[in-house]
Amino acid sequence: MTETTNSVPAHVAIIMDGNGRWAEEHGEPRHQGHRVGAESVREVVETCAREGVRALTLFAFSSENWQRPPSEVGMLMELFMRMLDRETGRLHKNDIRLKVIGDRSRLSERLRERCARAEQVTRSNQRMQLNIAASYGGRWDLTQAAKHLAQACLRGDMDPEDIDEATLQSGICLGDLPDPDLFIRTGGEQRISNFLLWHLAYTEMYFTPVLWPAFRADEMRAALEWFAGRQRRFGGVRAADDLQHDA
Ligand code: IPE
Ligand code: IPE
Ligand code: MG
Repeated sequence: MTETTNSVPAHVAIIMDGNGRWAEEHGEPRHQGHRVGAESVREVVETCAREGVRALTLFAFSSENWQRPPSEVGMLMELFMRMLDRETGRLHKNDIRLKVIGDRSRLSERLRERCARAEQVTRSNQRMQLNIAASYGGRWDLTQAAKHLAQACLRGDMDPEDIDEATLQSGICLGDLPDPDLFIRTGGEQRISNFLLWHLAYTEMYFTPVLWPAFRADEMRAALEWFAGRQRRFGGVRAADDLQHDA
């Protein structure tokens, strides 16, 4: 008998990779891959909300992506801005709350304003939280959390002895959410590329060769189905083994 151990993951985190290769395969410039990838974002967001996922975190632009040619960086920032303008109303209508995580000091003032506005408009929505990681790096996240703890200690608001996993977690982006249950990386690479380093400690990892612009509702449902069959132990033993041991 095959055991189905999980239901729908409460939190899904995705590295949306492969836009450039998709464009190349279609004889198009890279930016066309990013544009078509934006359609996958819409489809995956709606599929997750429909399937009952409570939080979805999408890696849109990493700390390291700033090293790309200025024309590509500019195009990605423009696309992000247009997506915020165009999609915020739709997210709001779908009862989805938007949050942007990452080093905002590196974003343009115009983009920072758009992020703040979209967060403000959708702040009370309850169905699903959509986190967009932009100018985000797992190491940046841990570093900024450590800095805030050090400042709290210097101010005398905290004793270094009181620093534990919970206090560190509270300073990390998304520290108020459950860790991702399911991680997906499209595009065939099997690495984390400085995404959610703290949060992925016990996440189930799903890698697919499908390039992001081709990753649509069916692909998303296939990943959810794969997750449903995983057996999670969190360092313990299977519940069935536990019973056997007791017998
Ligand atoms: C992912 O696609 C989008 C971003 C990193 C912003 P890529 O642009 O990395 O596409 P590939 O990996 O070169 O195919
Ligand atoms: C990871 O993809 C970052 C995003 C999808 C935003 P990259 O294409 O930047 O990662 P590497 O360079 O293949 O590790
Ligand atoms: Mg890539």
